[in-house]
Amino acid sequence: MSVINFYQKDHQVPLEMHKVRVVQKLFLPSVEERVAKIREAGNNTFLLQNKDVFMDMLTDSGVNAMSDNQVAASMQADDSYAGSETYNRLVKALKEVFKTEYFLPAHQGRACENILAESFVKPGDVIPMNFHFTTTKAHITRMGGRVEELVIKEGLDPDYIYPFKGNFDIPRLKALIAEVGAEHIPFVRIEAGTNLIGGQPLSMENMLEVAKVCRENGIMSVLDASLLQDNLYFIKTREEAAKNMTIKEITHKIADAIDLIYFSSRKLGFSRGGGIVSNNNDLILKMKEFIPLFEGFLTYGGMEVRAMEAMAVGLLETMDEEIINQGPQFIEYLVKELDDYGVPMVKPAGGLGAHINASAFLPDMPHDQYPAGALAAALYIAGGIRGMERGSISEQRNEDGTENYAELELLRLACPRRVFTLSQIKYCADRVKWLYDNRHLIGGLKWKEEPQVLRFFSGKLEAIGDWQYKLADKFREDFGESL
Ligand code: F0G
Repeated sequence: MSVINFYQKDHQVPLEMHKVRVVQKLFLPSVEERVAKIREAGNNTFLLQNKDVFMDMLTDSGVNAMSDNQVAASMQADDSYAGSETYNRLVKALKEVFKTEYFLPAHQGRACENILAESFVKPGDVIPMNFHFTTTKAHITRMGGRVEELVIKEGLDPDYIYPFKGNFDIPRLKALIAEVGAEHIPFVRIEAGTNLIGGQPLSMENMLEVAKVCRENGIMSVLDASLLQDNLYFIKTREEAAKNMTIKEITHKIADAIDLIYFSSRKLGFSRGGGIVSNNNDLILKMKEFIPLFEGFLTYGGMEVRAMEAMAVGLLETMDEEIINQGPQFIEYLVKELDDYGVPMVKPAGGLGAHINASAFLPDMPHDQYPAGALAAALYIAGGIRGMERGSISEQRNEDGTENYAELELLRLACPRRVFTLSQIKYCADRVKWLYDNRHLIGGLKWKEEPQVLRFFSGKLEAIGDWQYKLADKFREDFGESL
């Protein structure tokens, strides 16, 4: 990776190794309009209209900027139902990146999870993983399986500084296998860039160790590579053993050890779509018939050919450190700005986005008033910034109807790759700092409409009391005419 030092060392900022040539105009509604919009949206940032959002930090999924080469490639897509050249080019790129022979295309990450769960999970099965992801868990439980989370305990402590907080607790993995028996464990799932604990990576060493334990016990190892790109950057920059390896060598080493890899290309490869790769044809054959059933014919799997071409180029570009470093460096900058100000952040900075520890931001708010959801609504009011609640609202209730409170109440501020400028990141930090100084004005939320499955996507909540109007009044007082 090139090193570019600033002459004025204390003015050093992350420096993009690209320039922007296609842009989209943004709009920032007034604070009064923002109060009205978030209330209309049931205080759920998923239900805001994008036209009312200034900084869309909801997710990094499907909203990353593409390169000129990706756009160019997508113009040459071969649009045929079966046997398209686009598919062949994508398979070639996947072989180069993962050194895998077989590929099953699927329309996005959760589609791969559906196929994995349909093919391998039976009632009573246990699926160990470092940490669950919402859609992963929903598919496994739908098939009667159970998720066991085995992330190291430091991974759940937002203040604990450790480079690989997404690591598996290997002794606990071994103990679990001994306890439930390998025959009840269809696979162990490794989630790169562990999403729900703040985009925290696993080390290469830890991934290889998990794969070894699986091999010794005859259990299939599965890598969810959706967030692998940031994880690769962290391995390269934080792990001694990987210091002299290229990103591609690191990827090959990991892929060689693992039985099956699936990914959402809405994240990995700056594109859309997803898929499953493996060198084990027996495993592929167990899943293959579900592709035409759920997704589409085997050479497109529900994907647009243009997205597949962009994916092929994007995956190859992911092997370039100067392409994948922008996300983690911008996130690190945002986390540092906020941490220096005293805002409680998940540290160290991970991939995907900056994560505010909502329980520490709003320490007096009762858990049943959803601090992370309340903070998400408040930040939209403060700055037209749309983050995502990653706390209890994102969990499913227990079977008896009681709340299943999340271990971490986080507000995620995703940084879609190569999308924001540094001035926008600074604006975001500024509005969060203002909100932190006015946190005593933030009140809680209660359910108005609560769906049973994945309630965070479409559920509606209402503010308890009139705190949102008071927050807007304080904004006017402090910012005058400013939007
Ligand atoms: N696995 C991980 C680790 C993810 O972060 C996601 C999606 C998926 C699987 C599912 O992939 O969306 O293509 O179906 N994460 C998005 C997010 C939705 O906003 O964090 P998908």
